[in-house]
Formats: sequence, structure tokens, C-alpha cells
Amino acid sequence: MSSQKVLYLEKPKGSFVVSDAPVLKPGPGQLSVKVISVALNPLDWKIQASDFFVTKYPAILGTDLAGEVTEIGEGVQGFSRGDKVFFLGFPSNDLAGFQQYTLIPADIVGKIPSNIDFDEAATIPLAFTTAAIGLMASTNAGLDPNFELKRKYTGQAAVVYGGSTSIGQQAIQILRLLGYSKIITGASAQHTDFLKSLGATDVIDRGQVPTEKFAETARKMAGGPIKIVFNSVMDGGKSTAACLDTLDEGGVVADVDPDSAGDVGNGKKRSAIFGSSHTPENREFARKYWKVLPKLIQEGAIVPNRVEKVPNGLAGIAGGLQKLKSNQVSGVKLVANPQDTS
Ligand SMILES: NC(=O)c1ccc[n+]([C@@H]2O[C@H](COP(=O)([O-])OP(=O)(O)OC[C@H]3O[C@@H](n4cnc5c(N)ncnc54)[C@H](OP(=O)(O)O)[C@@H]3O)[C@@H](O)[C@H]2O)c1
Repeated sequence: MSSQKVLYLEKPKGSFVVSDAPVLKPGPGQLSVKVISVALNPLDWKIQASDFFVTKYPAILGTDLAGEVTEIGEGVQGFSRGDKVFFLGFPSNDLAGFQQYTLIPADIVGKIPSNIDFDEAATIPLAFTTAAIGLMASTNAGLDPNFELKRKYTGQAAVVYGGSTSIGQQAIQILRLLGYSKIITGASAQHTDFLKSLGATDVIDRGQVPTEKFAETARKMAGGPIKIVFNSVMDGGKSTAACLDTLDEGGVVADVDPDSAGDVGNGKKRSAIFGSSHTPENREFARKYWKVLPKLIQEGAIVPNRVEKVPNGLAGIAGGLQKLKSNQVSGVKLVANPQDTS
């Protein structure tokens, strides 16, 4: 059995260490993939800091992946060795990304279109998945449960709180695809032009407008009722409260904060998102978007986040996660190349 380099989180709340581990064979329905690029996410440092989600240690984390197909499991059709693919992994040692080879069920994999590279492709899976499930799937806001992408919402206003986050960038682009005429967001002023290029019509400068004033400002800009607000910030409930204040009666806040769920009165709802392609409740929806997403990227309708490289392969990831944790990453995605591990 061949061996590979992996990055282990040694024990709950422990350190990351580069180690050796066997390369696994794909099971039925799976692909084996050589990981060329893996993006870093807040989830990765949060698991290290708080010990949740993972049940077995040493653990391999990392869920935003791009690479080349190396082996094809029984029953898989439509993929060949050498295909360039991107997908959302899972923080379990067989399916995670902080390693040189990983596995993935073939029904939730996209082929990388020719206009983006591996690093750019790795910025997309978790952000797109979370935004698409939150806004479109029947488990959350349900704006387009069959992923038809018809411009059904022309003339209406939508709001994204935290537009410069990786997830916020994807939420803005999805709302543009759904035809919203007003897409209002908030971010640091330096990101205004970029967020407008993605489809935002109005960008509230979060350096000038505090969270408590966000709702009032967004509602003035909307020029009509706001029935959908996407929250891409977890800050102990402050942003969720601002999003609910922004919303009109009968509307829904799709929220990355897992503590936000249920009816909140005045006919308003908040809906907590679980951004995963793997879970049974998301699987059918995920199969649909993984087929269509490469075409949307090729057409320029969905663009990746901007990449900032993490040096030294797997060995550089702990330092990158520290930067993320201390809020030193703004409007870009950190990406590592596991094959560069010495
Ligand atoms: N529920 C789920 O399934 C799920 C899935 C994935 C991620 N998440 C969570 O979603 C959040 C966003 O993840 P991400 O990967 O998209 O983040 P990210 O790309 O790392 O976000 C970085 C950005 O956050 C912005 N930001 C930080 N605090 C903010 C605030 N109070 N208001 C507005 N913007 C703020 C910064 O904006 P400026 O540059 O404008 O200052 C920075 O550009 C994280 O908390 C993550 O853990 C949840």
C-alpha cells in the first residue's frame, strides 16, 4: 500500500503535525483524488479550538478541494483518470483535504472548467454549497429548490450581511442569477468595487455603519419589501439580530450561524444552514448543482474568490489557520498545495 503525507490534528484541541499515512483505495461509487489545492476555512480552526464535529483522533481536516482523479471505484461512470475535479470534502480522515490523496463520492464532484486553475477551484466548494443550500434548497429559504436558475425575482430586493466573506461573495452571485434587482450588502469599503462586479447593487461600508444601524440603512436602500436576507457572519448573534431587523413580514433569514432557527414572530423565520453536499437531506440538491456549477463558472456567472497562497504545503496550514482565526484575512481565500510538502 502506498504512503502519503497528511496533516494530523493530533488530539482534541491539540497541535497540527505532518505525518505519514496510507493512501486509501476508492470504495464503490467513489473516486480517489490527488489533492493539488485545498482552501482553508474558519471551520478548520474552530474544530481545533473547540473540539466539535470530529469524533476520531488523530484527525484530518480541510474540506475545500481541487485535484486530479487517480483511481475510479466500482460503478462510477463519467470520470476518467487525470480528470481535473473540485468538490466539498468532509472532516473525516477518508474524505478530508489536508492530505495528498483523498476519496469522494462521485455523485457530488464537479469537473474544473478550463477558465480557472486548481487554486481558484478550491475556493468555491464550501462557499458555493453553503450559499446555494441556504438561499435555494427546500431545507432553507427555498428560493429555487430544483436549481433551475430562472430569473424569477426581478424587481425584488435581497440583502447579504457580510458580502466580502467567501460565502457572502457566492450568495451575491446566486441572487444575481435568480434575477434580484436590488442586492444590498455590507463590507469594508475596500471591497466595494469587487462586490459590485459580482452583482451587489449597493454596498454599505461596515467601517461607517455599525451593525445596529445596518437594518435601517439597508431598508432605505431597498425601495420595497425585503423578503430574503442571507447572513454570512457568526458573531454571537449580533448580525442575526441585524438581519431580522432588515427583514419584512413573511420573509426569511438564511443564516450560517447554527444557533439561529425557527419562527421569530411577525411572520419572520430564521433558517440555520448546514453547508454540506454529503448529508441525506442535501444530497439530491447537491447532485444537481455539482452538474451545473462548472458551466456557470465557465460562463463567468460564478467566479472564485481571490487566492492567497499558503507556503510549504501541508506544513504551512497551521500558520494560515492562525491568520484566519485572528481576522487577518480579508476578501481572499487562503489556499495550500499538499503536494509541495517536503
Ligand atoms: N453554517 C455552515 O454550514 C457554515 C459553512 C461554512 C462557513 N460557516 C461560517 O460562516 C462564516 C463565514 O465563513 P467564510 O469562510 O465565508 O469567511 P471568510 O471568507 O474567512 O470571511 C472573511 C471576511 O469576514 C468579514 N467579516 C468578519 N467579521 C465581520 C462582521 N462582523 N461583519 C461583516 N463582515 C465581517 C471580513 O470582512 P471585511 O474584509 O469586509 O472586513 C473578511 O473579509 C464563518 O463564521 C464560518 O465558520 C458556516
